[in-house]
Amino acid sequence: MKTVHLLVAFVLLASASPLAFASDPGPLQDFCVAINNTGNGVFVNGKFCKDPRLVTADDFIFQGLNIPRPINDPVGTTVTPVNVEQFPGLNTLSVALNRIDYAPNGGENPPHLHPRASELFLVLEGTLLAGFVTSLPEYKLFTKVLNKGDIFVFPQGLIYFQVNLGKTNAVGFAYFESQNPGIIIVADAVFGSNPPINPFILARAFQLDPNVVKNLQVKFGNNS
Ligand code: GLV
Ligand code: MN
Repeated sequence: MKTVHLLVAFVLLASASPLAFASDPGPLQDFCVAINNTGNGVFVNGKFCKDPRLVTADDFIFQGLNIPRPINDPVGTTVTPVNVEQFPGLNTLSVALNRIDYAPNGGENPPHLHPRASELFLVLEGTLLAGFVTSLPEYKLFTKVLNKGDIFVFPQGLIYFQVNLGKTNAVGFAYFESQNPGIIIVADAVFGSNPPINPFILARAFQLDPNVVKNLQVKFGNNS
């Protein structure tokens, strides 16, 4: 009888333990095709670690995000990413951030999504319109006007944007719960893929004249 009690207790304990429900860790990159010969491979799930004896305080600081960035992009924003690529000290720590500078009168962080992280967005300067769209079946648009000091959250994997409503530059900071959130800018990915998607496929998908699609592909196709 004692054994049965022990067994029941063990089963209950195991099902209450997070280990019993453990899933695979989220990917830290777009893909990682398995190979048998590690000699021809690269290690991508995070990065190799520096010998801890050689680590200094300098490995944990990244400076200069106070400096306004020039805005040359036609959409009117400059994004300055600080993820594990720019700041190796973030490796394995599941955090990253971006500074975003917006041109006055409509400077826009265009519709995009982050495949590996939700985004916590803080307005440091200016007034912005922020919005995101839910998935099927509603495709519901949530929008909010954000002012200095406001924080908005963009859920992982949903498409969203921010637009500067003011007559002066605006600045935002985006915080991610990933060392490598990734980004897919919708227009760039659809019309600027490398190689290009067949324009007739896009013409049908977007219900556009194929020549309009071809023009868009010329405009966004800077990847080839
Ligand atoms: C803001 O949305 C960013 O991704 O930088
Ligand atoms: Mn973003």
